[in-house]
Amino acid sequence: MVARRIDGKAAALAYRAEVAKQVATFTEKYGRAPGLDVVLVGEDPASMVYTRNKEKAAAKAGIRGELHRLPEDTSQRALLDYVSKLNANDEVDGILVQLPLPKHISADAVIDAIAPAKDVDGFHPMNTGLLSTGRPGLVPCTPRGCMHLIAQTETELTGAHAVVVGRSNIVGKPMAQLLLAEHATVTIAHSRTRDLAALCRTADVLVVAVGRAHMIGADHIKPGAVVIDVGINRTDAGKLVGDVDTIAASEHAGWITPVPGGVGPMTIACLLGNTVVAAENRLSS
Ligand code: GUN
Repeated sequence: MVARRIDGKAAALAYRAEVAKQVATFTEKYGRAPGLDVVLVGEDPASMVYTRNKEKAAAKAGIRGELHRLPEDTSQRALLDYVSKLNANDEVDGILVQLPLPKHISADAVIDAIAPAKDVDGFHPMNTGLLSTGRPGLVPCTPRGCMHLIAQTETELTGAHAVVVGRSNIVGKPMAQLLLAEHATVTIAHSRTRDLAALCRTADVLVVAVGRAHMIGADHIKPGAVVIDVGINRTDAGKLVGDVDTIAASEHAGWITPVPGGVGPMTIACLLGNTVVAAENRLSS
């Protein structure tokens, strides 16, 4: 068997077109566009690329997007005050503070300071709590994007075994919650899991988000499995590769996401989608 590719770029384009329509409806209804404010502290090169892409994608969808660049030596107090101002600004519907933050700033303190209704990352404990209790809230973008890609394969999740490799707050934990909400039997694996390959071979759906190049190979894949590769790693040669060895895994998998062009584009599309959800919820309540 050779796996079929899940085309994240095409799925993201289609979803962004849908979001653009929602933005147009919102703008017509409320007389202003939804607003997304992204805060970047410092000059981490990857974060600079990501935040610029978010700003550009917002503009393309008709969202008022603004990138706030603060210096590396911004104090935690100053950043918390900055977030408070965005919280209080009625034109701001979505706030995203790009991670990682400089070492002298506590990411938890900053996440806690974002108004839950504007938390388009879905990282605030209020939103993580709503997700884990099955109540509506803002859901982290990358796991939402992964669910969208799994849906493309028309795989039945009810009763399926889903293994999530990685237990981060950004991807692994919310991903597990979303799969559970779709009635999958979910296992979360991580760096200390014993015999990871044997466990992964029992997965009908395998989602990998660990940040280690090519750690998942052919011996981790159940024949026909759906494989979602969240990793983006740069090799010594400067090439972008996922956490899954795509060519090897494709021998057994039924469906697989490429890197790049898989999960990445969907994450940004879901951020735009979350911004519209946040805007609509705020203005209609
Ligand atoms: N850094 C890497 N991924 C993310 C994300 O989804 N949100 C934020 N805020 N920072 C990130």
